[in-house]
Amino acid sequence: MSRALIIGGTRFIGRHLVEELLDAQYDVTLLNRGRHENPFADNERVSHITGDRTSGATLANAAEEVDPDIVVDCVAYYPGEVRMATKAFSGVGAYVFISSGSSYGPNHIPKREDETPLELCTEEQAVDDSSDTYGARKAEGDRAIFEAAEKGVNAMAIRPTIVYGPHDYTGRFHYWVRQVKNHDTVVVPGDGTNIHHIVSVQNVVRGIRTIAENGDAGEIYNVGDRRVLTLGDLVETVADVLDSDVNIVTASERELASEGIEITDFPLYNPNPHILSTEKLRSIGWEPFGHREAFAEAVAWDAQSAEKPGPDRDAVERVLESLST
Ligand SMILES: NC(=O)c1ccc[n+]([C@@H]2O[C@H](COP(=O)([O-])OP(=O)(O)OC[C@H]3O[C@@H](n4cnc5c(N)ncnc54)[C@H](OP(=O)(O)O)[C@@H]3O)[C@@H](O)[C@H]2O)c1
Repeated sequence: MSRALIIGGTRFIGRHLVEELLDAQYDVTLLNRGRHENPFADNERVSHITGDRTSGATLANAAEEVDPDIVVDCVAYYPGEVRMATKAFSGVGAYVFISSGSSYGPNHIPKREDETPLELCTEEQAVDDSSDTYGARKAEGDRAIFEAAEKGVNAMAIRPTIVYGPHDYTGRFHYWVRQVKNHDTVVVPGDGTNIHHIVSVQNVVRGIRTIAENGDAGEIYNVGDRRVLTLGDLVETVADVLDSDVNIVTASERELASEGIEITDFPLYNPNPHILSTEKLRSIGWEPFGHREAFAEAVAWDAQSAEKPGPDRDAVERVLESLST
């Protein structure tokens, strides 16, 4: 039996990771502030430490109390947090930081771990709390992984693209589920061929376990679904899972702007193709989960509690009206 410590663990990715690790016979300890309900409160194989990860002493105490074989860091949004964690957990079998596909700078197609340059990060950006600097901060966290590995720490990271699945509180994937469920005609921005690679949460947690068990120090691994879908294909697949007919109408940036909608208001729309190569993760034994099955699980989840992003519905109706005249 191995021991896993998860920093976070009660919302979305971390929650699925607990299940993945329990299935693989790990005993799991969660370290979080206790502000979100703990879905594993009644599970005797899941322990809980209440604490804030921004405190070095809290991390050091958790390292001593749990003596984990692996540590997965779900809530490092600042490079300083990654540095603090790689110090506190310098002796563990594996420390895995959840980074992001947003770490990459240029829009190479696909984005490859050891070729595509990362975002730069200034000292100001490293401590900035706006979403604009998210990618830069994750990239600097990746560089903290490289530095830790040079000092002998078995530190690694995973770079997921946008994640979907049950308990996805961002509601980005579910925007499209709602459109297909509630409307005969669905407006897709652009011409339907735009691509923002997405990844099922099942693929992310399988990836994290694969990295913790087989990854090499200082290495970072992308994760995305093996099959990359255009936004139009994604909507068709959701409709297929729901066994429903969908009529897709595409709308250009100008047609949307005429009704006050910015094309990027649509979740999962990206004007530039965003595709992560997944070969490196595959080469260390990652077994991908099929997107059709993952869509079925995501669609079946009751997303009432999730955020509801997306353009104003009345404005979308007006676009449809103007396109039909
Ligand atoms: N969703 C995506 O599309 C996507 C894509 C790429 C990367 N990521 C990365 O995935 C990670 C987030 O995953 P998730 O939210 O699904 O993880 P999660 O582990 O399921 O949930 C977040 C956890 O962090 C805890 N937490 C928050 N602030 C904390 C703090 N200061 N100290 C201790 N615990 C704290 C929360 O509990 P309490 O509030 O009770 O403390 C909760 O347990 C992030 O690193 C994000 O950058 C996500």
